[in-house]
Amino acid sequence: MSLFRTKPIDKIIAEAQEEGKHTLKRALGAWSLVALGVGAIIGTGIFVLTGQAAAKHAGPAVVISMIIAGVVALFAALCYSEFASSVPIAGSAYTYGYATLGEFVAWIIGWDLILEYAFGAATVAVGWSGYVVSFLADLGIQFPITLSAAPGTQFINVPPDIADKLQGIRVDGNLLAAGEGWNQMSEPLAKGIEQVGGTVAALQTDTAVFNLPAFLIVAAITLLLVKGIKESATFNTVIVLIKTSVVVLFIVAGIGYVSMDNFTPFVPTNTGVWGQFGVSGILTGASVIFFAYIGFDAVSTAAQETIEPQKNMPRGIIGSLLICTFLYVLVSFVMAGLVPYTALNVPAPIAVAIDAARTMTQGTPIGSIFAAFPMIIKIGAVLGLSSTMVVMLMGQPRVFYSMAKDGLLPEWAAKIHPKFQTPFVTTLVTGGVVALIAAFFPVGLLGELVSIGTLFAFVVVAVGVIVMRINNPELERGFKVPFVWVVAPLAAVTSAFLMYNLPWDTWLRLVAWMVIGVIIYFTYGIKHSHLRKENAG
Ligand code: ALA
Repeated sequence: MSLFRTKPIDKIIAEAQEEGKHTLKRALGAWSLVALGVGAIIGTGIFVLTGQAAAKHAGPAVVISMIIAGVVALFAALCYSEFASSVPIAGSAYTYGYATLGEFVAWIIGWDLILEYAFGAATVAVGWSGYVVSFLADLGIQFPITLSAAPGTQFINVPPDIADKLQGIRVDGNLLAAGEGWNQMSEPLAKGIEQVGGTVAALQTDTAVFNLPAFLIVAAITLLLVKGIKESATFNTVIVLIKTSVVVLFIVAGIGYVSMDNFTPFVPTNTGVWGQFGVSGILTGASVIFFAYIGFDAVSTAAQETIEPQKNMPRGIIGSLLICTFLYVLVSFVMAGLVPYTALNVPAPIAVAIDAARTMTQGTPIGSIFAAFPMIIKIGAVLGLSSTMVVMLMGQPRVFYSMAKDGLLPEWAAKIHPKFQTPFVTTLVTGGVVALIAAFFPVGLLGELVSIGTLFAFVVVAVGVIVMRINNPELERGFKVPFVWVVAPLAAVTSAFLMYNLPWDTWLRLVAWMVIGVIIYFTYGIKHSHLRKENAG
């Protein structure tokens, strides 16, 4: 049946090897790719979600959750590496699906990747905006609060006396992370203010209408990406070095102050509810923390801009993931070792851990490093999150570009800029849409969709590797998944298991998104597919 007709692999490889004015420019080597991967991976996940996974799900055993999520990511990375080294094409999972499972599945995956890349970029843009506004406030600059978040987000202005009293107090067992000035309104904050003698109704409040910083950063990165991948890659490498240094500094400075008391009990007893501590808590923690690993697969969308992709793709994908897994396990160990896990359910858990270390080291030389840390972290995050957005905003247009070349999206979308040799139409369309999503939606809703969408793509890629081994055993592969008959099925099953642990409303959104995709396919793609026309004609 034509829905499941596959695109011949030799045709895909021939397209990937085309050179000339209408193709992408090859400029990336192994190190640029590793930097690209690390650039995409280290982002809001490690800076925010590690704390939540510890406080709400795993306790100090968040270290185990981190390892589990890393292993699942590694299985997927091996599968991506086999594809990216044998079918090195910008469409990534979309084209792998086309080669192995047929056009319909390919379309579904292409549509699904929008959840990962476009929504991923928007999620990180919203996180970036939060850090910028708070960084500016530290410098004494108050960004207009109505233009700082998604419409409807409520803020409350906390006066200095109340802010002082809120320091270190706990609401429902969790430390409050509120400072002087405008704070996002939340139930614990309202309770905390009343608890210290303040009256919420008497304080100034305001409601946001548009997230301007998030909109502007996406617009700026989009223009950078239209200009060229080499420039973007150099910018990315510098930023990656800065943010990796911040993470390493946290580990090195903090590891000496880890207290075994904070690791006892290492696995807190389950509360009776699935996912709240105990073994199920460790597993749910792994699903939550998984977001932090997303990004290594985006390296594969740069395949057509890579020199010798057969060798360099696996290096970029696996290398970046291994570096980040190593850093993440250490960060979670240090974070959970510095403070009791109950204190980590805050937007900036690293800051809470540092605060504890600062108290322990006051008056010593290392104490001054800890005192400067909140500022260092904010600078690292502001710079670091921008490189995550660069990679996501680079990946999405390349998938669209591949889909347009196959006729599943309008032809004009595949245009390459004559001077910059970048897919400028899809880059501008993606940037425009992502800027609007980032301006209008809150971070929570976006982040969950990104995780489920990415895991779904991983499942299909893992199945695709097995199908390709059966159907195209002779294909030259720059990299082969070791023990493929065990590892590829494990990749599919473990990714599916992490999906299973995500909340059901996220599942509903995934299904709704896919239904829209299926409708578009049957009203447009199926009629314009080049493969279908070729086979008919
Ligand atoms: N891994 C990326 C992040 O944590 C998506 O922001």
